[in-house]
Amino acid sequence: MTSKKSRRQFIRDFTFTTVAVTGSLALNACGGSNASPLTVNFLHGVASGDPLSDRVILWTRATPSSAVDANDFQVSWEVASDALFTTVVKSGSIATSAARDFTVKVDVSGLAANNVYFYRFSYDSTRSAVGRTKTLPVGKVDQVKLAVFSCSNYPAGYFHVYAEAAKLNDLDAAIHLGDYIYEYSREGYASQDALALNRQVDPKSEIITLTDYRSRYAQYRTDADLQAVHAKLPFITIWDDHEFANDTWIGGAENHDPASEGPFSARRAAALQAYNEWMPIRLPDASKNDRIYRSFDFGNLMSLHMLDTRVIGRDKQLSYTSYIGAGGAFDSAKFSTDMASPARQLMGTEQTSWLQSQLAKSSATWQILGQQVLMARMNIPAPLVLQSINFSDYTALLGKAQQAPASLTPTEKQILAQPAIPYNLDAWDGYAVARETVLGTVKAMDKNLISLAGDTHNTWASDLADMNGVAVGVEFGVTSVTSPGFEEIFPKEDPANVAGGLQQIIGPLVYAETKNRGFMIVTATPAEARAEWRYISTVKSRTYTVVPGKTLKTLPGAANRKLLAV
Ligand SMILES: [Fe+2]
Repeated sequence: MTSKKSRRQFIRDFTFTTVAVTGSLALNACGGSNASPLTVNFLHGVASGDPLSDRVILWTRATPSSAVDANDFQVSWEVASDALFTTVVKSGSIATSAARDFTVKVDVSGLAANNVYFYRFSYDSTRSAVGRTKTLPVGKVDQVKLAVFSCSNYPAGYFHVYAEAAKLNDLDAAIHLGDYIYEYSREGYASQDALALNRQVDPKSEIITLTDYRSRYAQYRTDADLQAVHAKLPFITIWDDHEFANDTWIGGAENHDPASEGPFSARRAAALQAYNEWMPIRLPDASKNDRIYRSFDFGNLMSLHMLDTRVIGRDKQLSYTSYIGAGGAFDSAKFSTDMASPARQLMGTEQTSWLQSQLAKSSATWQILGQQVLMARMNIPAPLVLQSINFSDYTALLGKAQQAPASLTPTEKQILAQPAIPYNLDAWDGYAVARETVLGTVKAMDKNLISLAGDTHNTWASDLADMNGVAVGVEFGVTSVTSPGFEEIFPKEDPANVAGGLQQIIGPLVYAETKNRGFMIVTATPAEARAEWRYISTVKSRTYTVVPGKTLKTLPGAANRKLLAV
């Protein structure tokens, strides 16, 4: 009995002692105050971005243990030349607070060009994951290799595409062309599998306020695959529409209703603030958080010009339905007049002038436009755009017209006589004069132009020509990370027929793939620039396989401005 009592007493004493010691240590860590100690966790990973030859942005979020007040606290950071942090080359600390949603952003300068670095953050004894980043090269550069992404919709599926890119060891940087998040509610676009995949969005409702946008970014950044690719590569990002709301333009968005959702200016300000807090981006002018167009020079090989075709200067999209009269006839004369207006802007006059001066200044072999929407001409017969006939039937009609034209019925002849019109007025096709301004500049300067485009959720590769058909460059269009493509718009059609039919119908289109999710690896050397599309088999299950895609290339020089097979 005595012995049992002693043992119980011992356990009780030991427990009390442990609590007392722990409490004492915690109080010491807090400077002797009676307040509970602040602890911090790095729940959203680390990221780096906007590398230059001597600097890079490092990012994390320092989530406090409790809802601390708005007081700043300091987070430490270190940059090392090795993953074990044996040789720390830069270190410091920086304040964060509720005012910036506890995000941490450091612009570390004084780094060596074309160098891999490792970085991490800490608060007290808590450390973040280790990130890897790389500065840009200078001078003579033999090769640049980039991963290119767009349209990563969390509820639509798993981010296997990011996981695949994170496995690669020879990339210099990642480019994200926008739709990094989507704004919809749990009932919104591409969310039908979200519950089963355990990927329902937070918050539940469509995001409108600053708190909403912050919460959505925070949820996306809990994704392990997204964290892995950020930890592996510096990102160079631009937004597309869904970082705001669907089909954003300078004064509003298709998915914004001022009557029920308040002024668009308030929503735009909230989206801008959250983007700049959560993305590893360096604003060219810290006082203008809506100006993200900026250039990156990879020595004498490549200048990358990241553009904003969405928010800063875009006029409202034209809509076919507003040109259909009472009798159902399409007023093509008025449509053409409106489309040809020289005042109609996609980037705005200021950004356009800036791009022209950036192109003039750069003597790099390749001039790359990192931008949101397709620049290539994508004219499709009107019956297909207006969905009065499906692809299979239309291509069958084309075959009939070639093989047995005498057997065409009057109705079939009428269908085939319809003009080809832009399939997407939200793309450069809806801003033909603005496109001509850019292509005219490139042509006059005799530059080797490559446009990178996202937004569509399908793969496209096209030759770029001006309105007179003079070759100006090429476009590599990347499919989505998860957002559904044409396979969902044309569920009854064989995707191979859709892609094949489009290639047949659209003159400048060299390659289309309208079924698979994936990313693009763009490799530039002094001799050529190529794009390799890499797909994954599914975003709807944890297991998947890699599906190899096509590789196309182009060569520098005025005589070579077209896509070539590899
Ligand atoms: Fe998208």
